[in-house]
Amino acid sequence: MRIGVLTGGGDCPGLNAVIRAVVRKGVKEYGHEFVGFRDGWKGPLEGLTMPLSLETTRGILPRGGTILGSSRTNPFKIEGGVERIKENLEKSGIDALIAIGGEDTLGVATKLDALGVKVIGVPKTIDNDLNNTDYTFGFDTAVNIAVEAIDRLHTTAESHHRALIVEVMGRHAGWIALHAGLAGGASCILIPEQKFSIEKVCQWVESRFKSHYAPIIVIAEGAIPQDGDMVTKDQTLDSFGHVKLSGIGDWLAQEIETRTGKEARTSVLGHIQRGGTPSAFDRVLATRFGLQAITAAHEGDWGKMVALHGTDIVRVPLASATEKLKLVPLEFYKESEIFFG
Ligand code: F6P
Repeated sequence: MRIGVLTGGGDCPGLNAVIRAVVRKGVKEYGHEFVGFRDGWKGPLEGLTMPLSLETTRGILPRGGTILGSSRTNPFKIEGGVERIKENLEKSGIDALIAIGGEDTLGVATKLDALGVKVIGVPKTIDNDLNNTDYTFGFDTAVNIAVEAIDRLHTTAESHHRALIVEVMGRHAGWIALHAGLAGGASCILIPEQKFSIEKVCQWVESRFKSHYAPIIVIAEGAIPQDGDMVTKDQTLDSFGHVKLSGIGDWLAQEIETRTGKEARTSVLGHIQRGGTPSAFDRVLATRFGLQAITAAHEGDWGKMVALHGTDIVRVPLASATEKLKLVPLEFYKESEIFFG
């Protein structure tokens, strides 16, 4: 078979590990050929390809980003987009696609599968919000980066008797905030799944100062105050209808200063959480996903996504990945409240 591989949406550490595993097993064990499509769905849409072979995928395991490039191109928003993809796949002699992505990329893959394109999905996102897989690769690395930042912020916060706020990514899911906040010993963690009371946050800040520690507040970019709205950078939408988040951390710092009289500053971690080398956990998870994805393709098990269930790599219906967002269960969040304040 001749198999196309693409990576779409926001990049994350581990993408290259999947590509390497797919190609390595696909060539050595099954004798398949590979073509890399560049920049997500833009690749098959515009016929942008690059060679994928044992040689071109050597040495990429620890590299962050994606050697294929990525984009948030939505072919269903482009006149004749699907027909162009089908034509280009035929022109390049592609029998099937392995699409590595999050809810948007896999949403497109699901629709293409229904239209007869042979496709296997691989779940990636630092947000960890894809349904029907316990974890996505990229998440562990993002959490580790955030924890390192929190550890560093503790010492400077204490030196200056300040409240320090760490704004992390995650869009509408609080997984990064919750895990990084728990691992970093935050004085409170604010996630999109549970609107927060600013009065309560200020009480936690004050109680932390009383015990002679400086508070660290971890806030997800999509967190919402009880009496306010989600903060967005601007109102422009990307081709999948998402607004750009960020800004809630600065809003919170101002509120804390006004209400408690204590100095408060914000660090927005932003894309630092997505860049650089993957953690060992993500390298292994991404590799196992890649190995299972190429076997699924070899067996012609189309319309499936590889997933982590417990410690097993399994195949689930591709459509189930995007049925709903996998949000933080409130019981899990409530459990962490014992450490707040
Ligand atoms: O979905 C991954 C993610 O990093 C989100 O956490 C964040 O809101 C978004 O992508 C940022 O996207 P972009 O890099 O396109 O600004």
